[in-house]
Amino acid sequence: PQASPISIDPIRTVAKEMKFLTGNIRQLLGSGHPTLDTVAKYYTQSEGKFIRPMLVLLMSQATASMSQTSRRNTDISSQGINTPLTPPSILFDVNPSAPDYDSTKYNPLTGPPTSADTTSTPDILPSQHRLAEITELIHTASLLHDDVLDTSLTRRSHPSANIAFGNKMAVLAGDFLLGRASVALARLRSPEVTELLATVIANLVEGEFMQLRNTPEPAASPASSSSSSSAAAAAFASASPNPVYSDAALDHYLQKTYLKSASLISKSCRAAAILGGAPMETVEASYSYGRNLGLAFQLVDDMLDYTSEGGELGKPAGADLELGLATAPLLFAWRESPRGELGELVGRRFGGEGDVARARELVAASDGIEQTRRLAQEYVDNAVRALNDFPASEAKDGLVEMCTKVMKRKK
Ligand code: FPP
Ligand code: MG
Ligand code: MG
Repeated sequence: PQASPISIDPIRTVAKEMKFLTGNIRQLLGSGHPTLDTVAKYYTQSEGKFIRPMLVLLMSQATASMSQTSRRNTDISSQGINTPLTPPSILFDVNPSAPDYDSTKYNPLTGPPTSADTTSTPDILPSQHRLAEITELIHTASLLHDDVLDTSLTRRSHPSANIAFGNKMAVLAGDFLLGRASVALARLRSPEVTELLATVIANLVEGEFMQLRNTPEPAASPASSSSSSSAAAAAFASASPNPVYSDAALDHYLQKTYLKSASLISKSCRAAAILGGAPMETVEASYSYGRNLGLAFQLVDDMLDYTSEGGELGKPAGADLELGLATAPLLFAWRESPRGELGELVGRRFGGEGDVARARELVAASDGIEQTRRLAQEYVDNAVRALNDFPASEAKDGLVEMCTKVMKRKK
């Protein structure tokens, strides 16, 4: 039944489906080591936005009617791989007399959700539910690492994990999440989906590497990349003092944005369609939707860093400039006066006294924010267009509404 687009709330559409999400994720993250257990689950205590799992569930539902396979019979849930595996022996190597330690209490490798506990809507397969959880695991792992790299103080209005537990534990917990995400992924028994999500993990790191510099890296010559790491380090250190704006900077930013933000969203939308047995055009459309929405999402994020008050965001606003990062609003402002003062500030990564405040002024006086918003709107329009051939459904309306929400969000 098709609901009126005005009353569609994407969260409501899949609310029942989301109910078990956090519980299932926490189960996937159980460790016999009590401290690791606590650190690994730390970000599941604060309410995330769950955008990625929500998109996976909506996409699963929206593409269900186009499935080419007899879904129930081919999904993993009917192949007996839900049977819990024996927990790895490492769990039993932890000192069993330590307080609170009970290895039998945790069964991290409990299989995918059974139809009894989560699938109230037959449109969404157990494997797609598990995929939704995996996307949140990978995202959360990247946040744990990101907060170390960014020396963050808060996340979702609470002390970030690096502050609460220290850098070492935060990094290790992130690694642990990736490990558990990999186990869950392997259990989907889909090499194609495994390849997609493994590529996402690599892409996140590539995006983060691109962000270490604002400007494109000089192409690594075989000599400098293989035999001399100091040559690479020297190239890295020699940022030009007063760069003039070039479109290469914007291309670099957009590619970084794809890798850092849109890769996970696009590839998990694609994976959802694949698991559901959708035809190739639908798989491509799902990917295109996710790619465009993901790019828009990050552009808005980068815009909010300029336009929000810190309190609204749950993390400090203006953080990007403080980290030396030139994002879309600044790049558009710089494009307006390519040889202007912004080049100088970019050249020293806003590290001089008063640089951050000056850059904010220059961006505010330019059309940079508005141009960022406009580009995000273009991507969102592309995302909606990608859904053209999907049959009408409440889930499709939910996907469209997600686009509107991305443009309206305040945090
Ligand atoms: C948040 O960005 C960070 C990301 C979206 C990705 C971070 C990726 C890594 C740290 C690479 C390692 C990846 C894995 C999977 C372990 P942000 O700092 O701009 O946003 P924030 O304001 O939410 O901190
Ligand atoms: Mg960060
Ligand atoms: Mg970061």
